[in-house]
Amino acid sequence: MAGNTNLAYRRLCRKYGAEITTTEMVSAQALHLGDAKTHAILERSDDEFPVAAQLFGSNPLHLRVAAKIIEDLGFQIVDFNVGCPVPKITGGGGGSALLQTPELASECVQAMREATHLPVTVKTRTGWDSPDQAPEFALLMEEAGASALTIHGRTREQKYSGKANYDIIRDVVQATNIPILGNGDVVDMQSAAELKKTGVQGMAIGRGALGRPWFFAELTALLSHQPPPPPPSIPERMDILIELGQGVCQLYGEKRGMQNMRRLASDFFREAQGCAQARKKCTALNTLQDLKTLAKEFTFQLESSRPNQDPEP
Ligand SMILES: Cc1cc2nc3c(=O)[nH]c(=O)nc-3n(C[C@H](O)[C@H](O)[C@H](O)COP(=O)(O)O)c2cc1C
Repeated sequence: MAGNTNLAYRRLCRKYGAEITTTEMVSAQALHLGDAKTHAILERSDDEFPVAAQLFGSNPLHLRVAAKIIEDLGFQIVDFNVGCPVPKITGGGGGSALLQTPELASECVQAMREATHLPVTVKTRTGWDSPDQAPEFALLMEEAGASALTIHGRTREQKYSGKANYDIIRDVVQATNIPILGNGDVVDMQSAAELKKTGVQGMAIGRGALGRPWFFAELTALLSHQPPPPPPSIPERMDILIELGQGVCQLYGEKRGMQNMRRLASDFFREAQGCAQARKKCTALNTLQDLKTLAKEFTFQLESSRPNQDPEP
């Protein structure tokens, strides 16, 4: 996820049970041109396995070169973005715009397949403005050589509104022979169980794990029919947040790292008393020490506002 799934964040998700992790999407053209910032997004480590690098673009030549670079960088999967609804991406013919040019999408997948020994997977939506063609499109991607396909149960037109359509995901599972991963609105055990019923071979989790990487531990328990572990306490959450902050600063240096953390940290302050104020303070984070102070203050404030559970007789 752009702006979120840097190496430090992916490491945390993996620690809690994510089986495959994916980088933020990067431009095949920028990679082809050797852009340093794009290379920095593709930071990976050997303890992360298997990890996919996600490319966007619509030029088969750029994608061919970029796929080979991904292989040389040591990734295990090339994931192709055919779902991003952002005009900056679709305007160049990439992301979900490829749902309107299925032959070109096919050509792109074939070009990457020819360029690399790695599996090429596709991440898509149910359609541009209607989900009618979703099974047909998925089959086309399979025929072009996609090894697996992740489908977000919304059209490009819906962006993130409404509810992800799991019925269409079921249709795609039934129409294809490759592993299908379902995506959209998995935020708790109930939604995960509902998506599992479609027959998907896996689930891709986005917003449900932002600010709560431990969600993967709950999902892992569900999938192995075990009772879910209790969610981490507030002090434990704050420790996880600091671990993330340290990792992000290691990746980008403290100045840029903390700029990234302003948004990443605010996701950790959800569903708790006093979280609005803490989220506001996230916008002013400049140093790792600021983050540690915020975490300490938040824990203290929560503990002291809690009624005394063990009153003296
Ligand atoms: C901030 C943000 C960034 C995202 N970046 C990407 C991305 O880089 N690549 C991608 O395939 N999807 C991206 N997505 C879409 C998610 O991967 C996912 O398909 C969508 O949020 C629906 O799933 P969810 O309900 O589990 O979040 C992004 C979504 C958000 C909210």
